[in-house]
Formats: sequence, structure tokens, C-alpha cells
Amino acid sequence: SAQLNELAKAAGKLYFGTATDNPELSNSTYISILDDTREFGQLTPSNGMKPSPGVFNYTPGSIVANLATKNRQILRCHNLVWYSQLAPWVTTTTWTAASLTRALVQHITHEVSHWRSQCYAWDVVNEALNDDGSYRNNTFLQILGPEYLKIAFAAAAAADPAARLYYNDYNIEYAGPKARAAREKIVGFLQDAGIRIDGVGLESHFLVGETPSLEDQVENMQSFVRMGVDVAITELDVRMLNPPDEASLAQQTKDYQAAVGACLQVPRCVGITVWDFYDPFSWIPGTFPGYGSADLYFPDFTKHPAYYGVMDVL
Ligand code: XIL
Repeated sequence: SAQLNELAKAAGKLYFGTATDNPELSNSTYISILDDTREFGQLTPSNGMKPSPGVFNYTPGSIVANLATKNRQILRCHNLVWYSQLAPWVTTTTWTAASLTRALVQHITHEVSHWRSQCYAWDVVNEALNDDGSYRNNTFLQILGPEYLKIAFAAAAAADPAARLYYNDYNIEYAGPKARAAREKIVGFLQDAGIRIDGVGLESHFLVGETPSLEDQVENMQSFVRMGVDVAITELDVRMLNPPDEASLAQQTKDYQAAVGACLQVPRCVGITVWDFYDPFSWIPGTFPGYGSADLYFPDFTKHPAYYGVMDVL
């Protein structure tokens, strides 16, 4: 029977994909699913392309990138500028506007040039907004102000004319001050300056029963598309309190269906990426204590009801 990526492509999407991380790649059952392009047509390294404490270390990222090449899977590259998981020297150095601009441009130019032709898309700037719609405080904002967004996207555009350049964030999957800020303070801000931005990544880390409705997600996606950019669901998962029970798994099915179904209704929603597919490899238990079962496969590799629910809407 057909599987997730096959069905997504038949429905007009570019891919159904998953994030994956280097330590996971020694589990042979996991790999057999990851490698199956009927299931996953796209990979995102969940950590491998984030900066390492040294200077430029491409080895961790290359492991997932090479896997995508071998399997002929689309690669989403993640990410270039973020407040979190920064190389430690970024926050310990005393910067001037000129020296930080140089460091930012050099970092982006090296990274993007190194991966050129392999990345379908780059998450150029990750999570630059607060929930109230203000710019999130980080070293770049402190020293450069919002100009850092322009510097980052312009440097990425210069280094890879072919990669689709994305802004990526959470809590922008539904209408509100943060989604409005993503339109006005990120997309519009760059467009007004004549700087290329091609897409907005809707992370979509949802909580069971609190996922925005399909209609709200469609309307929100369209609000970005009306500005002339693509959208993608980039980090989908739906967490629940431990232990999972039948009611939560049934609600989770509806929540996954709302997200995937919304993407299907918006032609410029290019694809759907889950933030890993196997519960034991999910980031959720480590970040949201007491929560789990957010992915599509249980620890014994049987599938969640949500997996079949997603198949039904694809
Ligand atoms: C997470 C990874 O999954 C974890 O392994 C890591 O410890 C922290 O980062 N938003 C993002 C991703 O854009 O980069 C984050 O990934 C999850 C939230």
C-alpha cells in the first residue's frame, strides 16, 4: 500500500519528510523506515547543521546530507541564525556592529556556500520573535537591531541563488500577534528592503487537543501566501501527557489531520516535515517533562492511530 511521501506527492506536495539526528542512525529498523522514499521524501538534520563549538565543522551535517543524497531525498537545511544552540563565543565576544556584521556574513557565506546545490531550502533565521510579536532579544538584535535580519537573508541569497530562503518559527501557525509580526516584521520588512525571502516555516509543535483548527491553519497559511512566499510545515509533532491513552491518541489523530489537511488545501504549502517519526527519538520528553508520544511511530515501531489518520487525509 502507498505510504506518506508517495501520497503527499500524489496530492501535489513536493514531499512528506522527517527530521533526523546523527545518534539515531545506528538503529537499523529506524534506518529502514528513514531510507524508504515511499515514506519520507525529505530529511532535515535536527542538530547536525547547528554551529559547533569549534569554527566550521561540517561532519555532523554531512552525515544526514549524504544520506539524503544517497536516497535522493530533498534536504531542508537548518539553521543559520538562532538565539539558541549558538557557538559559545557569539555571546562571550565583545562586539561592535561592524565586527558582528563581519562574523555573521562570514558564518552564513561559509555555511551556505559549503552546502550549495544540496539544500532545497535553508532556515536562514530561526525563532526571531516573541509570542507578543516583538523581536526576540538575542546578541544579533542587541548589537545590530532588526538590520541583522536583512544582513542574514542578503548573505544567504548571495551565497546560494537556488536555495529557497525561509524564516522559521513556532506559534505562527494561527492568527495572532506573532503571526502578524512574522508577516510585517520579517517578510514585509525584508521585501520592503528588496531582500529575498522565499518561504515561512510553520514549525507546528502542537499539544494534543490544542492544535489550531484546519480552517484556522489554512487561513493563516494563506495570509503568508498572499505576500508572495511559500509556506511549509517544518517540525510537526503533537505531544500529550504520559502515558498515552486511547482518547489522547484519537485526539492526536485529529490534530495531525488538521495540520496535514491544511497544507493540502494550500497549493503553496510545499510540504510537511515531522520533527522525527519515532517516539524514542523525539525531543519532546527532554524539553517538556511529563509529555511524550508526539510522533507517528511507537517505541516498538507499530504506528500511532495518527499515522493512519494522516494517510486518510493525504
Ligand atoms: C531541537 C532538537 O530536536 C533537539 O535535539 C535539541 O536538543 C534542541 O533543538 N525548534 C527548532 C529546532 O527550530 O531546531 C529544535 O530542535 C526544536 C524547536
